[in-house]
Amino acid sequence: MALPDSFLQELLAKNDIESVVSSYVAMKRRGRNLVGLCPFHGEKTASFNLYPETSSFYCFGCGAGGDVITFIKRIENLDYMDAIRFLADRAGMRMPENRQENDQTSRLRLRILEANREAARLYHAALYRPEGKVALDYYHSRGYTDATIKHFGLGFAPPGWDYLLKALRTKGFKDEELVAAFLAARGRNGGAYDIFRNRAMIPIIDIRGNVVGFGGRVLDDSKPKYINTEGTLAFSKSRNLFALNFAKNAGRELNLCEGYMDVIAMHQAGFTNTVAALGTAFPEEQMQLIARYADKINLIFDADGAGQKATKRAIDNLRKTGLDVKVVTIPDGKDPDEYIRKNGAAAFKLLLERSANAVEYRLLEISKSHSILTPDGKLAYFREAATVLAELESPVERDVYAGRLSEMLSISKDSILREIESRRKKKNRQEMKYQLPNLMRQESKEMRQVNPDALTYPRAASAEESLLGTLILHPDYIRQIAMLLPADEIVTEFNRNLYKRLLERQRQGLLVELAFLAADYDEDGMAYISRMVRDARERAVSAEDVAAYAAIIREEYALRYMTNPEGASDEDIQGMLDALRARKKK
Ligand code: UTP
Ligand code: MN
Repeated sequence: MALPDSFLQELLAKNDIESVVSSYVAMKRRGRNLVGLCPFHGEKTASFNLYPETSSFYCFGCGAGGDVITFIKRIENLDYMDAIRFLADRAGMRMPENRQENDQTSRLRLRILEANREAARLYHAALYRPEGKVALDYYHSRGYTDATIKHFGLGFAPPGWDYLLKALRTKGFKDEELVAAFLAARGRNGGAYDIFRNRAMIPIIDIRGNVVGFGGRVLDDSKPKYINTEGTLAFSKSRNLFALNFAKNAGRELNLCEGYMDVIAMHQAGFTNTVAALGTAFPEEQMQLIARYADKINLIFDADGAGQKATKRAIDNLRKTGLDVKVVTIPDGKDPDEYIRKNGAAAFKLLLERSANAVEYRLLEISKSHSILTPDGKLAYFREAATVLAELESPVERDVYAGRLSEMLSISKDSILREIESRRKKKNRQEMKYQLPNLMRQESKEMRQVNPDALTYPRAASAEESLLGTLILHPDYIRQIAMLLPADEIVTEFNRNLYKRLLERQRQGLLVELAFLAADYDEDGMAYISRMVRDARERAVSAEDVAAYAAIIREEYALRYMTNPEGASDEDIQGMLDALRARKKK
């Protein structure tokens, strides 16, 4: 049975590789990745690596690798379908029953999106009718202009139990569709009623422009302050960020705030690169989403206890993404919305520029738990701080913070740097000692088994694997490459089939991710592929590089038939001539 993509996507979202693997293996953070003792072969030093960014694992000791499904297959010794069932159980999901139901599911998802869109229109229109005046006044009292209200599509859900139900029923929506959309709920007698009543309505719009849900705020001090759309077929909190639809076009630096209202105020003040997290958990998945759109992130949370806790959680999960993190502390316990209203956008800009980065923030946190006035406290602080600094990859940054630490603790900067270096060296030595020889042995063994052609055509195979790893990592290149490089010109068989699969998934508009290949490849195959992805991750690859790989492959393809033309068909020969001609032009 072929599983629908939507099901697999949900399964993967609910079984993130880090939590799954961590329930079997004690993993330690190392930079963007995690390492632990490999569960698939006996070892004393950790060579089992987890890459949350690509949801994959790889063991440098034994060459095991793949996605979360492959991990479960191996560790629980299950076949593909049973591994899927296992993960579905773990996440409390039901297996899709049959085809018909899948079609029904995707139809319902579309209906939910349509209902949301209609609801957003109705709520917005209600704002400008007499009964909506309370809400319009409320927005104005918060300083929102009419342009802002329109830009965000803000609205009002009038009081009463069936305002939306009535309006959407006349547009042909069924009650059960509105219940599935989290727009209506069923009472004890089975009748439906509106969930959002007498609230300021803020639509949540995804990056494709779909209205996927709402936040509804009370207009006074009653409780609950917000009602938010909860997990529907069209919406998951952890896969969305409020206002990302606008902010994604505002450059590679994002501001992350706590609330809807903060974001709206920030956009109005000109900070259009601002999003909110839709909750205070900051799951890693959501932080990865940020990493897709930004290199730098500024955390702008309230100065209260809850805000500080949130900051810490967010930093912990953001550290895993390798993003450059800064923490903006707002004075006087205000939130950004209030601060801007009171002090203006220019003052806020100053705050942003002066904000501390995540290292400073962590050092500050450590300093809170140790008094550096006592010798013991000083030593304890120094130890923890050195650990933080040893994680910094940039020597310049290590130097800067060592200087600061030196002033604070009156320890010479040199001895601080020496301590940091010795920690880093020790870590690196452990890594190097075991990995290299094992790796070389392992990779040639794999090559023989999985892709024997690679031994005969090493240059072609190497270019192919660089290309394929890159395409899995950056599927947006696939369209361009599909035009440059016909599948038949991939020289080695394993890689050719993999390439065809990627093109096919792209053609059908399906997600390209390691986990979606798990249905088609055994564990050795997955290990082979995840190695390509791992290598590709270590290189930063541009569109030109990708085209260059394709050119090498075409060259190798042509050369192969020049030395052995008998085996070539007319088409082959034509392709070879094309490739050679293309090569001459350069
Ligand atoms: P805040 O209480 O800081 O709300 O919660 P706010 O958006 O700043 O609103 P104002 O300025 O007080 O009017 C921050 C975020 O936490 C979530 C919402 O996403 C909110 O924007 N939240 C808060 C809820 O989901 N439910 C609640 O009851 C409260
Ligand atoms: Mn607020």
